[in-house]
Amino acid sequence: MRKLILAAASVAIMALIGPASAQSPIVIKFSHVVASNTPKGAAADKFKELAEKYTGGKVKVEVYANSTLYKDKEELEALQLGAVQMLAPSNSKFGPIGIREFEVFDLPYILPDLATLRKVTDGPLGAKLLKLLEPKGMTGLAYWDNGFKEMTANKKLITPADYKGVKFRIQSSKVLEAQFRSLGAIPQVMAFGEVYQALQTGVVDGQENTTSNIYSQKMHEVQKYVTMTNHGYIGYVVVVNKKFWDGLPADIRAQLDKAMKEATAYGNGQSAKENEGALEEIKKAGKTEIITLTPEQDAAMRKAMEPVYADVATRVGKPLIEEFIKETGGVSH
Ligand code: LMR
Repeated sequence: MRKLILAAASVAIMALIGPASAQSPIVIKFSHVVASNTPKGAAADKFKELAEKYTGGKVKVEVYANSTLYKDKEELEALQLGAVQMLAPSNSKFGPIGIREFEVFDLPYILPDLATLRKVTDGPLGAKLLKLLEPKGMTGLAYWDNGFKEMTANKKLITPADYKGVKFRIQSSKVLEAQFRSLGAIPQVMAFGEVYQALQTGVVDGQENTTSNIYSQKMHEVQKYVTMTNHGYIGYVVVVNKKFWDGLPADIRAQLDKAMKEATAYGNGQSAKENEGALEEIKKAGKTEIITLTPEQDAAMRKAMEPVYADVATRVGKPLIEEFIKETGGVSH
């Protein structure tokens, strides 16, 4: 919190001494919680490269990876205060600041593949969801992928019954909480930057994540098993501080828009490959056993999590869930 106040104070002082001289670049602080060798890390670095190139150096993008500036919830508060200008939090992390609708992306098995996801994010529903950010002082610029989540634990997780009583770290999403409760597990909200240590010391027994996050945080070194469930999706919304964004000269904003479009195409074009590569590295490291489910075991997991749709209908919004399923061409739950 002290860090936040200091950062906000320096923003206020900058405003008092007036606009920077013609030579000094506009600085965009881009904070995120994952490693550079992940889909989000790579897209953020690509945005930096392109933004600086297209603005001819008038904009400088400072990327702070791996929670070096802020952790999960702090990050969004810092953006709202103007202490950082750009973030890409996962859909699951907007609930604590009062935007519950993005939790729809957390529903178990709602997305069969990335092509289906694009139908939602590139369509009218994707645009409608981004509009919800504006009253909270943010502008949504893009949807970035990570990928599909797997379960990790020190216990072999095959059937729904295996989850009973197991403590799982979750992101701050009520849908994820309901998901683990549907399995009889015990969910515990925790910032991403604290997961490795919590797994190592046994504060929690397991967690769910993409293989790129598992590998780059070395979680596979402190988890005996990874079960390839692909039960949910992690993706991001790139957000900027609205006041900052609206206050940019129009030509600069257009150049940044172009950089964002291209960085998005680049990142989303290689996210699946990054996760596949990470899985290969996890296998090579040989420290964890990879479990693949049979079609029957997969069906049992789907069935066990089915009640989550009804459990969270009031929170996320039944019409929204139905619209989402309609856009994906999926079956109503
Ligand atoms: C998590 O908290 O597990 C992820 O959202 C981290 C991330 O940004 O991919």
